[in-house]
Amino acid sequence: MKRLPVTKLALLALFSASVVFAQSNGAPDGAAMKETEPGIPVTDPLVREKCGGCHTPDAKGNLSRISWVRTTPEGWSQAIKRMVRLNGLYLTPDESRAVVKSLAASHGLAPEEAKPVMYLAEKRIIDESIIPNETMHGACASCHAYAQPMSWRRSKMEWKTLQDLHVALYSQADAQYRRPAEDSEQPEGRDPKDKLTRGEYALTYLPKVAGLHSPEWAAWSARQRAPRLAGDWLVVASVPGKGRFVGDFTVAPGKAPDEFITQAHLRALGDGATISRSGTGILYAGYSWRGSSKGTAAATPDDLASPARETMWFAPDQQSAQGRWFWGEYQEFGYDVKLVRATAAPAILAVVPGPVKVGTRGVQMRILGHNLPLSPAAADIDLGAGVSVTKILSATPQEMVIAADVAPAAMPGPRDVQVAGAVLEQAFPVYRNVDYIKATPETALARLGGIKFAKGYQQFEATGYDNGPDGKPNTSDDVALGPVDADWSMQEFMSVYYDDDMKYVGALSPTAFFTPGVEGPNPERRFGRNNYGEVWVVATARKERDKFGRPLSARAYLVVTVPMYQRFDQPEVAR
Ligand code: HEC
Ligand code: HEC
Repeated sequence: MKRLPVTKLALLALFSASVVFAQSNGAPDGAAMKETEPGIPVTDPLVREKCGGCHTPDAKGNLSRISWVRTTPEGWSQAIKRMVRLNGLYLTPDESRAVVKSLAASHGLAPEEAKPVMYLAEKRIIDESIIPNETMHGACASCHAYAQPMSWRRSKMEWKTLQDLHVALYSQADAQYRRPAEDSEQPEGRDPKDKLTRGEYALTYLPKVAGLHSPEWAAWSARQRAPRLAGDWLVVASVPGKGRFVGDFTVAPGKAPDEFITQAHLRALGDGATISRSGTGILYAGYSWRGSSKGTAAATPDDLASPARETMWFAPDQQSAQGRWFWGEYQEFGYDVKLVRATAAPAILAVVPGPVKVGTRGVQMRILGHNLPLSPAAADIDLGAGVSVTKILSATPQEMVIAADVAPAAMPGPRDVQVAGAVLEQAFPVYRNVDYIKATPETALARLGGIKFAKGYQQFEATGYDNGPDGKPNTSDDVALGPVDADWSMQEFMSVYYDDDMKYVGALSPTAFFTPGVEGPNPERRFGRNNYGEVWVVATARKERDKFGRPLSARAYLVVTVPMYQRFDQPEVAR
């Protein structure tokens, strides 16, 4: 082949990309390719009316393209927004909501498929652990979370058309896809010089793990039923830097069978402060809650009464749920919540204060719950190996106070608690020693703001650890002991000399709440730099000491950066 100069090659790539674009843009049925898998029919008259004009119906009730993909409510919302933006679809907001609800149920994910990617809708900032290998990381997780593709199930052809559309719409996608795959074996009969690309690898991998049809989806399509969430639920929640909470969550029927009105009452396990929140929510696809709620006036950015969005995953039996209620410009604040239905049976919600040390006698523990027995015998309460109840000090249906002894040889680790048939797994840990502490999040991000953009805050926490049965730190058997009291400070992170980041990036409060500085150039700083920078956030334990008698300490790496000027779509499907 004749060598073309680079510029011509680039032009050629651009040209062929626009052909793909024109093709998929002009023909939503993907005219160039033929679908070979059976589709999932669209029966909802509204969806057929709104989408069927361009997405051609077939004799089996399928709409082209739409019948060969499944996704979350956010996935559908995103797709529909693109139809409006690029393809000229017109929908009223009410119609759009109805279409999202309908497709999230008829072309959604099964609860088991959605659970591993709930963190995307919960807006958690985490290191993703679901990425299978380097190739898929480079191919599909270099621009957005890997949970983005894993929120979809598609036919083989639809995974291909998605790639074509990416190449047409997003610069750099083509370059990513053309890189050689790190993790593939060379397909048989293919020239060894012609290595499989990341894009090709993704097209062999994704249909296998995220194909249109799955046993989970087949089962859920049959099992999906009208949500019956109304009634009383029990809640346990925790908020970084603010501790744990217990309470109740009352669900009343709303305007439609899948819409609800909620009331939550939470009580802090630390100081007993109470919070009331009221809200509404929608249950998508029979299990996936999107709601919003608020308390009474919120005074500070991290105020627990702040208006929040709620994302929760309900178990298919509609007896329990888990998720996050979050707020903040970057969704950096949130309650981690777990719900169980309040029934006539006893339930245990939390054990306070938490960690107990081996060899202690007469330690007081509060067991918080629901319908706990009023006159229990010590033998009705099981605190796990090496921990025995010596006395019952008081008992109400909501709270039992007991005294317990912890055997000197008890094994460090979490214990389950059982009372009158109710069990709370990993209710509290037994420990020998606070061997080290961690400052979390260990790598953190805050964003400047306060003038034109809102600030992105960061709360830190110091957590104690026991080395665990093996006696070695940082191994998988280490026992987390919850928050420890610490003094907090910042230290310069030495990447650029004399930039004095500490003076500019912002302020750390005594409770480890970091408030970043304002955005934009700072005339007082050398070169008029912005207030960005990198610092160490250092926790020094107030009580816990190492074997030399020095206070335990730990540090976290904090990057303070500019506001997020450009945002990708943030699909919002809560009312
Ligand atoms: C005015 C024409 C038009 C209407 C109406 C329309 N679409 Fe599309 N749709 C397209 C075109 C063109 C494409 C291919 C290009 C693209 O994906 O943007 C497409 C592609 C799609 C895809 C594949 C996108 C992907 O992620 O790969 C989905 C899903 C989809 N449409 C959903 C819908 C839904 C749901 C509706 C109804 C609410 C709808 N469309 C209505 C024109 C339309
Ligand atoms: C060059 C950057 C880039 C790469 C690489 C990339 N994506 Fe995307 N992807 C995007 C952007 C940008 C969006 C649109 C995000 C938005 O609108 O919120 C997107 C959206 C999506 C969506 C949402 C549905 C839709 O039609 O918009 C899916 C699914 C997706 N990508 C899958 C993949 C897969 C699978 C791969 C790997 C084969 C991949 N992406 C690689 C940039 C990329």
